Amino acid sequence: MNGPPPVARISATARYLPERVVTNADLEALVDTSDTWIRERTGIRERRIAPDDVSAADMGARAACGALRKAGLSASDIDMLVVTTATPDHLLPSTACEIQARIGASRSCVAFDLQAACTGFLYAVSVAEGCVAAGRGQNVLVVSTEKMSTIVDWEDRATCILFGDGAGAAVVQPTVNGEGILSSFHRSDGDLVPLLQRRAGGAVMPLDEDSLRNKEHMLRMSGREVFKSAVRSMAHAGRRVIKEAGLTASDIDLMVPHQANARIIEATARHAGIGMDKVFVNLDRYGNISSATIPVGLDEAAEQGLIGPGSNILMTAFGAGLTWGAMLMRW
Ligand code: UT7
Repeated sequence: MNGPPPVARISATARYLPERVVTNADLEALVDTSDTWIRERTGIRERRIAPDDVSAADMGARAACGALRKAGLSASDIDMLVVTTATPDHLLPSTACEIQARIGASRSCVAFDLQAACTGFLYAVSVAEGCVAAGRGQNVLVVSTEKMSTIVDWEDRATCILFGDGAGAAVVQPTVNGEGILSSFHRSDGDLVPLLQRRAGGAVMPLDEDSLRNKEHMLRMSGREVFKSAVRSMAHAGRRVIKEAGLTASDIDLMVPHQANARIIEATARHAGIGMDKVFVNLDRYGNISSATIPVGLDEAAEQGLIGPGSNILMTAFGAGLTWGAMLMRW
């Protein structure tokens, strides 16, 4: 191994997916699309949509409690709570504070949101790693939770077919037997902000009659440009973390990529030299749950026995900003 020995590991994961399934056929009734187009262009068959009265914090809290339970921790053991979401319950205060209250961790830890769109989970795990490395805490809870159904324009066929709701959580703790984060690489490109954004609702364009009528508060995306940038940046980041860890593509036991589009996943895996038999995909069932895709994927993969002690796991993600990154972890 090339780099310094790992200091932090993911010791437990959990997920929460809402029960309601919305299929591609259901979307045919809403916009001019077809099940065939969606499957062939994206790989998505269905997605989960949360009820009106269940928020991102509600879903995140459920995933958080699951991860704490699996790690054998109680809420008062948490030193830091980092939450990633593109769909905060409120613009102010943070969704992290909402989740902190729901799980009974108020006052006993610091809680804050980290905004990196779909790349949020990887950024947050790196922040957690830094906390552990600096000796600032032993138990960091990362929660990625998204209610994408509230920010997609259900009349825009280019975006509404892509996204779903759900949450994933992970507990980050000090390494025990040499397992944990071997290498990571994160970048962002602020010049590409216009490719994927919600223009209204912040301080620059507060909600008013005009912005609401023009749906400026909804997600808008230049899909084709994002697609190309995603493949390039994730493939580069993936190759880089493999090399930095002193490994080769053949050492990777499972790749758990951000689930945005099956074609993006296939191209990224190909460029990184990883066969699709070693790539975890659940996009067909959940669509793109933004920052929650990787923790949900890790949790399902572990449950299915696809990863176990000693597995080398490559995670890659990209999202609005644009942001991107990769992380290599020994389980
Ligand atoms: O987590 C980060 C979030 N971002 C992403 O995941 C976006 C990455 N980009 C993509 O996944 C793909 O670019 C899309 C799936 C969004 C679009 O696929 P594409 O192959 O890039 O299609 P396109 O945008 O070039 O559109 C091709 C055609 C267009 O029609 P014309 O102009 O050729 O007549 C679109 O109007 O497909 C049309 N189209 C649709 N047709 C049926 C776009 N959306 C749909 C739809 N159903 N839902």
